Amino acid sequence: MQDSKIQILIIDLGSQYTQIIRRSLRYLGFHSVILSPAESLEWVRNNKPKGIILSGGSSSVYDTDAPEIPKEILDFDIPILCICFGMQWLAYINDEESVHKVEAGKSYGPVEISVDTRSKLFQGLAERNKRKISAWSSHGDSVKHVPKEFTTIATSKNGSVIEAFECISRKLWAVQFHPEVEETKDENIILNNFVEKICNCVKDYNQQDVINEIRENTKKELDGGIAIIGVSGGVDSTTLAAILAPVLGNQLKAFMIDTGGMRKGEVEKVKEIAKKAGINLEIIEKYKDKFIKSIGQSIDAEEKREYFRKVYGEVFKEVAKNYGATHMIQGTLATDLIESGSAGKSAMIKTHHNVDLDLGLKEIIPFSDFFKFEVRELARSFDLEELLAGRQPFPGPGLFLRVIGVSVSAELLEIVQEADYEVKKILKKHKIYDKIAQSIVALLRVNTVGVKGDGRVYGYSIVVRIVETRDFMTVKGFYLSQEICEEITSTLVRHPKIVRVFYDFTPKPPATIEFE
Ligand code: XMP
Repeated sequence: MQDSKIQILIIDLGSQYTQIIRRSLRYLGFHSVILSPAESLEWVRNNKPKGIILSGGSSSVYDTDAPEIPKEILDFDIPILCICFGMQWLAYINDEESVHKVEAGKSYGPVEISVDTRSKLFQGLAERNKRKISAWSSHGDSVKHVPKEFTTIATSKNGSVIEAFECISRKLWAVQFHPEVEETKDENIILNNFVEKICNCVKDYNQQDVINEIRENTKKELDGGIAIIGVSGGVDSTTLAAILAPVLGNQLKAFMIDTGGMRKGEVEKVKEIAKKAGINLEIIEKYKDKFIKSIGQSIDAEEKREYFRKVYGEVFKEVAKNYGATHMIQGTLATDLIESGSAGKSAMIKTHHNVDLDLGLKEIIPFSDFFKFEVRELARSFDLEELLAGRQPFPGPGLFLRVIGVSVSAELLEIVQEADYEVKKILKKHKIYDKIAQSIVALLRVNTVGVKGDGRVYGYSIVVRIVETRDFMTVKGFYLSQEICEEITSTLVRHPKIVRVFYDFTPKPPATIEFE
């Protein structure tokens, strides 16, 4: 899109949420561009946007190195929404006495705010929320009184803290909290009011624009090079490859690694999906033994993940060398980056096998500010419905994480693979599979005595864990009926090496979904 047609300019003052402002606008149907303060003035002069948003930022207006926002942007008669640090800046330049410098620490977390719904910014919030909303705040300094000409339009703590103000004649609005983040429970009404009701923007962003933008940006970043992309058959990597395949042609080398830890029939299924999506997919099988041997060295969960990641990285390196690749394209989402500690200050929960692989290639991560629901919508537009329905999440290290307390071997993997397949079949037959979030079938190191036919046997134990959840952060065990448990047990013990079947309904927390 030409710059002159972009309706909203976001000026980045260093907030960790700047990209989220852009994503929220995209979700609402509006194009925007993010620029630094230094670039902004010239751009506004040349392109005359319909609205400007100043992001927050970690600086204080009293810092000598605080971002220098050109005051001239206030003279264009363009509506401006100033968020957090943006609000403090707006107050300070109008009245140097108005900003209270924080002594120590930040106010961080949800805050209940009362809004004046006569302000255009808050219209539509009243009925649902009785003029109060829970908003996300993360700031140090605060505004102690509003400058002349401005009116307070939101407060918290019984009116003692100023949360928002406006000056309609100068087309200026300011909020202390962050309307762009999900934790502000306004259903995006505030940002939508600003762009639609205040700036009179018309929707100019649809799914095809998202796709075009991903294609254009990736092509630009690739700059004539060759990119590899690992396709796992999950929604993210497959959708991304489907988006890029038509425009990158031979510059894109898509491959799938058969690690030996896949579910039964998985490779065939992914081949089928890739064919349908027009992805030319190479299946790499020759590393199966290496994966099994390497991971088999340890029974510790994180060590197993680390071994997996090492071999996985090696395969990527070799593939890259064979293709003469210059770049690696990843389907990693914002949430994956956050969970693996690669974004912001969030804690590392589990090693992710495909984040920060350090292959000496330039990385392109087109979905890095996308969330799952957006990628799901894109998948739908590519007719990849089967990626969405009936396909449970499956960990990258696969069945290697489902052989527990004992060294992984080809034999044990095969037992888990068969057991997983049988359980899935039974759940589908009873129409349970689509109701649950995930079914985990694992082999436990509880070798146990049994009687089969007329003889004593000594064999393996299998555990079946079925969970319900929406967000995978917390789960409830899904209680199967006696009839289904009996059917699963009798089916599994038909395998000559399986003697006992356990069921696990422990919630998360304290137990995670996987066993390790
Ligand atoms: P937990 O076990 O942490 O799982 O409750 C949450 C979700 O993440 C999946 N999972 C993984 N996915 N690599 C992945 O790609 C991993 O190492 C991994 N560990 C867990 C798990 O299947 C569930 O959907």
